Amino acid sequence: MIELVDLVKSYDGVTNVVDGLNLTINSGELVVLIGSSGSGKSTILRMINRLNSITGGDILIDGESIQAKNPIELRRGIGYVIQKVGLMPHMTVGENIEMVPKLLGWDKKTRRKQAMAMLARVDLPAKEYYSRYPGELSGGQQQRVGVARALAVNPDVILMDEPFSALDPITREQLQQEILALQDELHKTVVFVTHDMDEALKIADRIALLKDGEIVQYSTPEELLRNPVNEYVREFVGNDRLWQTPEFLYARDIMRTNGPVSA
Ligand SMILES: Nc1ncnc2c1ncn2[C@@H]1O[C@H](COP(=O)(O)OP(=O)(O)OP(=O)(O)O)[C@@H](O)[C@H]1O
Ligand SMILES: [Mg+2]
Repeated sequence: MIELVDLVKSYDGVTNVVDGLNLTINSGELVVLIGSSGSGKSTILRMINRLNSITGGDILIDGESIQAKNPIELRRGIGYVIQKVGLMPHMTVGENIEMVPKLLGWDKKTRRKQAMAMLARVDLPAKEYYSRYPGELSGGQQQRVGVARALAVNPDVILMDEPFSALDPITREQLQQEILALQDELHKTVVFVTHDMDEALKIADRIALLKDGEIVQYSTPEELLRNPVNEYVREFVGNDRLWQTPEFLYARDIMRTNGPVSA
């Protein structure tokens, strides 16, 4: 479980870009942080793995303050996937995935076996991709390697910052499906940042809608759609729905028969 408690972040000591935020993410839950550009989403993720310092309040993982932990140790237990992937270009796919296992002192054989297994998990045939360099892969394939790398040491927590936003819609859809399939199997605690409501509605157990460093609404996708707490949420959901994939909502409404309003 991850708990953000009265969390504050200020970069300049004047403005709070995260402003007294409270959020609980249960173990095994996939929570999406969504909000307009500059609302503080990446800042929050980077505070969870201590790439950003905390100005006020605290973050607890399984009841323990992350500030009491060694940042390097902490990060080893947290997978991190970002939009630009961050694969090392001079290292093969296999070497990239094995980076953290190697740091942890895993022997070569175990590392290789794990890398192969992770590649298979993200649907990249290991035989074909293990020895390639990142520059020889498509954007979608690189992003899959990024996910494989984040999973390599089996962390309980995975942070994903707009991991699919640079991909074409079809590849993006495939990776969203893959994340859902992985999550069904692995039940990680996932914090996933996006500014795409369609993506959030598809993959989230719960969605936290942020505005100016505060949470406007935190609820299931269905609740967000059916009972937006105010006009801001209504517009955020509504606008996206209209110009992105209204057919998705239609499909979901048909599929769900156990909601507050029967289909
Ligand atoms: N290193 C930094 N130094 C100073 N200000 C920063 C820094 N990083 C982010 N900010 C500011 O903090 C605010 C929140 O930024 P953040 O990157 O968390 O937003 P975001 O919600 O991830 O936005 P986007 O959707 O564009 O990625 C912004 O106003 C940004 O300019
Ligand atoms: Mg961001």
